Amino acid sequence: MQDKKVNHIAIIMDGNGRWASNQNQERTYGHKYGVQAVKEAIKGSIENEVRYLTLYAFSTENWKRPQEEVDFLMNLLVEAINQELEELHANNVKVHTIGKIEALSPLSQQHIALAKEKTKENTKLNLILALNYGSRDELVEAAKKFAQDCEMGMMKSSDLDESKLERYLYTAEFPDPDILIRTSNEKRISNFLLWQISYTELIFIEKLWPEFTKSDIKEAILEFQMRHRRFGGIKSI
Ligand code: FPP
Repeated sequence: MQDKKVNHIAIIMDGNGRWASNQNQERTYGHKYGVQAVKEAIKGSIENEVRYLTLYAFSTENWKRPQEEVDFLMNLLVEAINQELEELHANNVKVHTIGKIEALSPLSQQHIALAKEKTKENTKLNLILALNYGSRDELVEAAKKFAQDCEMGMMKSSDLDESKLERYLYTAEFPDPDILIRTSNEKRISNFLLWQISYTELIFIEKLWPEFTKSDIKEAILEFQMRHRRFGGIKSI
């Protein structure tokens, strides 16, 4: 019997800019509405008893955007955390981050630290925000940390196997995603969780991110349940 429970959903939130330009608005208008969609994804995850939700909020490549848009996204993050923290906490959501948050502004880091501290005992949903995250960067950092442990005599190169390497990733404490959703009908992974999605079911949906609702979480789960996951083996029935 296969386990059809969905424990972890990861999302590449894409299409904010196109959604805004479809309405003759600035790209930042789309990011603003993207926060509503984030709330929908959280609601949908809680209602469907998903334990982990990972959102690709800012990639290592997003710094290449115009400075004005980068600043807007950073402020939006602080604003969203401020506005939603009480509700997240009331809903028993625990906030985590993956990525190099030490490169974010001191203010962003301060608000992130506050959100983590306030929600650290929560147990219903783990909300993992990927911020200044890139999968290749994560793997390079993991290799460096492993090499340092070898230099200090805490590890030997012959010790390394898959499960030991995983301990050096940002995601060490989380299970791999069951489902990866990308909105806006783009069929790319864009440097997101490359190691962790080896056996993840990929779901590409046409909607642009601000149009995403909690029922898209339910639909993704139903789609997942219809697929047969074999993990490289053969069908069990
Ligand atoms: C992709 O759309 C979206 C982003 C790079 C940013 C995602 C941020 C949010 C949804 C808002 C804040 C998030 C949190 C967690 C509070 P795009 O700009 O690449 O759209 P396009 O492909 O149409 O240009």
